[in-house]
Amino acid sequence: MIMYSIILIISYMQNNMTKKDLKSFEAHNADYETKVGIESFRDTIKQYNIEEKFECSQFSKAISKIKDVNVHIDVGSGGGWLLFKTSPLFKKVYGIEPSKIACDNVSILIKEKGVSNIELINSDMIEGLEKINLQEPAFFTTAIVLSHIKNFYVKKFLKKLNGVPNGSAIYFCERYDRNIQQKLWYVRRKYWWAKNLNEWQLEFFGFEDNGYRGGIFALKVGKGGITNNFKPNIKEDVLWFFDGLKNKSLRLSRFCHRIIKKCLKKS
Ligand SMILES: C[S@@+](CC[C@H](N)C(=O)[O-])C[C@H]1O[C@@H](n2cnc3c(N)ncnc32)[C@H](O)[C@@H]1O
Repeated sequence: MIMYSIILIISYMQNNMTKKDLKSFEAHNADYETKVGIESFRDTIKQYNIEEKFECSQFSKAISKIKDVNVHIDVGSGGGWLLFKTSPLFKKVYGIEPSKIACDNVSILIKEKGVSNIELINSDMIEGLEKINLQEPAFFTTAIVLSHIKNFYVKKFLKKLNGVPNGSAIYFCERYDRNIQQKLWYVRRKYWWAKNLNEWQLEFFGFEDNGYRGGIFALKVGKGGITNNFKPNIKEDVLWFFDGLKNKSLRLSRFCHRIIKKCLKKS
């Protein structure tokens, strides 16, 4: 009986250690496969240049705040637009992306553009970080990647990030301001980030009326260097709760609307 319990506990722990959330990867990979190949990747990069996505997503602001960092690592690099933007600004740029088809297409674009300092790592975010074996401070980014991944897996990723050298920086262009309750959307508030990035001095870039997208910026200063904690107060708790409730109800009403429409069509 004891032996059986020990085996159960060990297998549960092993399972937990290797457990991943790959739903977002699967959905995006299917999307990349159905797109009409490399041309759509080219178009997206052109479109983002026109929209000035680099500036509007505040990547340029984040970079202006960091010093003496030569390596940029974009996690969930997808179609690679951000890699091409930062390749003139850093000595080495890595794109970590689990979709092989996305990596293959971006590799073609890298060759076409004759860029020599971008390296793609066809891996999940955690294995990708392990493969880089970083020995110096780096700048880590995501652009709408972590919002699609469940908390337990993002926590694992942040735990890995906590091990990188001091002087590193992150900018996650992800929402933190709305309690969105939708399929494949996981938005965490400021305190959640502060708790899980407890060696990082955090700053939240706001979402502006002029279309600027915000995100989570942080510098790795070590545990002793943090001067803020973003602990929520009651007012914030209540607002967050009702914001979630509002979004949940909207989702529920959309779902009911679809069901009613389907039933009416059948009858
Ligand atoms: C919404 S797309 C964003 C792509 C890109 N960052 C951009 O701005 O266009 C999300 C990307 O995250 C990738 N992704 C999903 N799960 C991942 C994981 N576990 N590790 C790394 N990347 C992941 C997807 O394959 C997809 O390319």
